[in-house]
Amino acid sequence: MAVRVGIVGLGFMGKQHLDIYLANPKAQVVAFADVDQKKRAGDWSSIGGNIEGKGGAAGFDPKSLKAYASLDEMLAAGGVDLVDITLPTHMHADAAVKALGAGVHVMCEKPLAPSSKDADRVVKAAAKAKGKFMTAMCMRFWPGWTWLKEAVEKKTCGKLCSATFKRFGSTPRWSWQNWLLTPKFSGSALFDLHIHDTDFIQFLLGKPRAVFSVGTGGKATKGGVDHVVTQYMYGKNLVVAAEGGWHADPTYGFTMRYTAVFEKATADFDLGREKKLAVHLADGKTEYPALADTTGWAQEIDYFLDCIEGNKPVRAVTPKDARQAVAICEAELKSIRTGKLVAVK
Ligand SMILES: NC(=O)c1ccc[n+]([C@@H]2O[C@H](COP(=O)([O-])OP(=O)(O)OC[C@H]3O[C@@H](n4cnc5c(N)ncnc54)[C@H](O)[C@@H]3O)[C@@H](O)[C@H]2O)c1
Repeated sequence: MAVRVGIVGLGFMGKQHLDIYLANPKAQVVAFADVDQKKRAGDWSSIGGNIEGKGGAAGFDPKSLKAYASLDEMLAAGGVDLVDITLPTHMHADAAVKALGAGVHVMCEKPLAPSSKDADRVVKAAAKAKGKFMTAMCMRFWPGWTWLKEAVEKKTCGKLCSATFKRFGSTPRWSWQNWLLTPKFSGSALFDLHIHDTDFIQFLLGKPRAVFSVGTGGKATKGGVDHVVTQYMYGKNLVVAAEGGWHADPTYGFTMRYTAVFEKATADFDLGREKKLAVHLADGKTEYPALADTTGWAQEIDYFLDCIEGNKPVRAVTPKDARQAVAICEAELKSIRTGKLVAVK
């Protein structure tokens, strides 16, 4: 039987998730909850976003879903096996703890919470919950990034010498009540956007010893970090850095890239290229590994549904991993504020 899904927060990411579930036979979306009365009435024209997803289903009728005004209403009505939380970030922890307490499976968008203290509450609730829990750290599943993880793990190109990541976009102006550009709600670009690379780096190489960051704000958010550059300390033989920002002007769009230099090859990923992953070899040739025509979002959802269906442990992203990503971002923020190298606990 398909997993019955209820989506909480039908904004940019909620709609992406909905389209993905609609294309996945393991799931059946039965409901959504949103405070926006227009959305509940079937008018979804206000939903914004910055990258195209894959999925959807021809002929889908929004009115076929039960529409609730809150997570509480959805849980009280029952009939949902999996609650998918795509709410603004500052609402994640309360919603996740509530849904886990109700005994359902829970997927929660990243970041797990705007602070590690809030994230701790979810880690605790997930540890004693009947349902499974996963934070949607999508880069762990993104085609081309899974290639890099495997290359590092299996040393197929020799030892890694350096890895640099870049994620940059126009200022996100679509969000509900502008929560994304309100640092206490979203954590600004550092916790909302750049955390994708922070998390992927810890996934790839383990927890860094320390971080050194510079950052600036003021153009997109007041008091937030709109642009950050961080060095992750892994010892003197490995250079790891990531740059993320969202204060570019409207027509800039969105880019995500990495360049990983190994002993025997250089791998370069650019979301904006037709051949997104290029592997430059020492003999002057370039290879273009075939990548699955999908997104990390679709892959992570399929993985979680698979864990639910087969009653398997969720190993790809644990609650502690998601909490640790937030804690590393906190160390980065401290480094920006103090101008010092900050140890990662
Ligand atoms: N993985 C990714 O690549 C990715 C990309 C974008 C956003 N996200 C994450 O997804 C989450 C949502 O971001 P978004 O861009 O979709 O935001 P959004 O503002 O577009 O959507 C939020 C939705 O929540 C609804 N909402 C607000 N309060 C509510 C409440 N109390 N109960 C029910 N609904 C409520 C709003 O009406 C809106 O529809 C964030 O945590 C964000 O970081 C992840």
